[in-house]
Amino acid sequence: MKRFIENLPKAELHLHIEGTFEPELMFKIANRNSIEIPFKSVKEIKDAYQFSCLQDFLNIYYQGANVLQTEEDFFDLTYSYLTKCNEQNVRHTEIMFDPQTHTKRGIPFQTVINGIVKAQEQAKSKLGITSLLIMSFLRHLSEEDAFKTLEESLLYKNKITCVGLDSSERGNPPSKFKNVYAKAVELGYIPVAHAGEEGDSDYVWEAIDILKIKRIDHGNNALQDTNLVQEIIKRDIALTVCPLSNSALKVVENLEEHPLKEMLNLGLKVTVNSDDPAFFGGQLNKNYIEIQKALNLSKKDMYTLAKNSFQFSFLDEYTKQKYLTELETYYQKNCATTTS
Ligand code: HPA
Ligand code: ZN
Repeated sequence: MKRFIENLPKAELHLHIEGTFEPELMFKIANRNSIEIPFKSVKEIKDAYQFSCLQDFLNIYYQGANVLQTEEDFFDLTYSYLTKCNEQNVRHTEIMFDPQTHTKRGIPFQTVINGIVKAQEQAKSKLGITSLLIMSFLRHLSEEDAFKTLEESLLYKNKITCVGLDSSERGNPPSKFKNVYAKAVELGYIPVAHAGEEGDSDYVWEAIDILKIKRIDHGNNALQDTNLVQEIIKRDIALTVCPLSNSALKVVENLEEHPLKEMLNLGLKVTVNSDDPAFFGGQLNKNYIEIQKALNLSKKDMYTLAKNSFQFSFLDEYTKQKYLTELETYYQKNCATTTS
């Protein structure tokens, strides 16, 4: 099963580039930029990665991002992640980035996006990996601030596919960003948002009804409301679920209690993702492997998850079909005749 998962062609749809910042690279870039970080070793950083909730994690996550200063830093960060995609048979990835985390510190929008885009281009030409960008607004900041970011993004509009919403969920409902999402949609961005990670099902309702999102990041708490589940299915909206993240941030007590199988059984379109792999103990394949073990999922389930990852990507139809055909061939070859 492990080999089957490792070789399975797949896409990642929920990934924060700042959350891929491995301690080794953090030290390297901190030294290069002569920036002090409050840790003496890689081990000390890793030991600090014990979280009791989302906010606990976000405090450390923003601290780590502080060392990123130059276009080269953003290139190195992004290319390092894309190399890992290549090693894991991740064919396509939809990368979130948080411009405000950097512009708030005086780093120009242009520095951030140019570094990321150069890495995307190199990964496409050297590794054959496709990717697109989701520009996420920080929900603990104001809607006015999000509007400024939206405006800044316009020069790079052809590099960005979606707008997203992340950071501290409780107390910052989707409705706070109603106007900026309406404007972003008018401009041609596809709307997605984190909802139902720590916030309850009302937040998921707001995200689908008010922000009109096309994909839900996390969405675990949608299960609190059966009408909502039916509505999500009716509108054919997928959930980007992140098992190791949910376990690390105590969204679930442990992986055995994770609702992913229940979601599949209800008919929800679920995908598996790593969220912030440097912080939560594993890349994408580890998420597939650990959730498979915890819930005793079948090969067919793993195939369904990978299929959803391509199906609910925002790729053009031609490329989507190309990946789906590759996946189908792999599945037929490796286990279509057995049910497990
Ligand atoms: N939730 C909210 N904001 C985030 C996350 C997350 O899981 N990761 C990075 N920013
Ligand atoms: Zn996330």
